Amino acid sequence: MSWKKENDPYLDIKSMLDFHFRSIHSETNMSANIIRRGLVKNNEIKSCYLKMNSISLSELGDFETIDISFVDVLKRRRTSWDFNEEPIQCSTLSSIIHYSLGITDNCKYGDFIVNKRAYPSAGAEYSIIPYIYIQGTGNDLIDHKIFKMEIQSEKLYLVNKLNDKEINGICSTSKFTDRNFNKCNFIIFFATNFEVLFSKYGMLSYRLSLLEAGHMCENIQLVSTALNVSTVPLGGFYDNFVRRICKLDGRNFVLYILGGG
Ligand SMILES: Cc1cc2nc3c(=O)[nH]c(=O)nc-3n(C[C@H](O)[C@H](O)[C@H](O)COP(=O)(O)O)c2cc1C
Repeated sequence: MSWKKENDPYLDIKSMLDFHFRSIHSETNMSANIIRRGLVKNNEIKSCYLKMNSISLSELGDFETIDISFVDVLKRRRTSWDFNEEPIQCSTLSSIIHYSLGITDNCKYGDFIVNKRAYPSAGAEYSIIPYIYIQGTGNDLIDHKIFKMEIQSEKLYLVNKLNDKEINGICSTSKFTDRNFNKCNFIIFFATNFEVLFSKYGMLSYRLSLLEAGHMCENIQLVSTALNVSTVPLGGFYDNFVRRICKLDGRNFVLYILGGG
């Protein structure tokens, strides 16, 4: 008798990607857009990257001191589209990224040293890659640009430049209503390549990726609250548009977004 190897759906990445594709939030499945269906354009995803220029977080200014109590931060945390009239200081922006996502410790795992960060990560793989769009700081080096964040080195790598107000295309609220991102100062896109975790966790990696993005987003919302910056978490965004502006290739997906200002 010979043993037959069963197809194990737990180890079939195609099922996971099919599921993800079926769950994308497109412009044609929002009731608010039905009357505008004729205007919908097919956004092609290009995998080309701009020649990467980098900028260090520390170049944006010294990290600010936070002196509000943790309990008060939790009480004050709200989702709000009322972004501040005053432009954000670059030092506030760098503080938000540094305190929410930055390296806080290092630990030994066998022969390896792992730099631990402000948020928990499945298997300490840190597979979620944040991209950040910045505007309204008055700093031409960063305004109206999308950067890929490398948390380890606290560096931002230039990925794309956007036209004025182009960012409002990311979701139906900003595209079709009075609430928009005109006064917001940053939008963080939490992206992943599922294959990074898949070899270790199989289909479970889908859940782990979403959960980790949630932890990162929550940290940023809390630190922003502490620094008097309004934030909006976004789950309902246009996947293809967002992937196109972040120049993500076919293997990378945005899971969650947070706008602030
Ligand atoms: C996973 C998730 C997705 C969300 N997506 C959106 C969204 O697409 N647009 C929006 O305006 N708010 C979004 N929100 C914010 C919620 O509307 C908000 O958290 C809720 O109304 C509770 O208000 P609070 O955050 O001020 O306590 C989202 C929140 C979560 C947790």
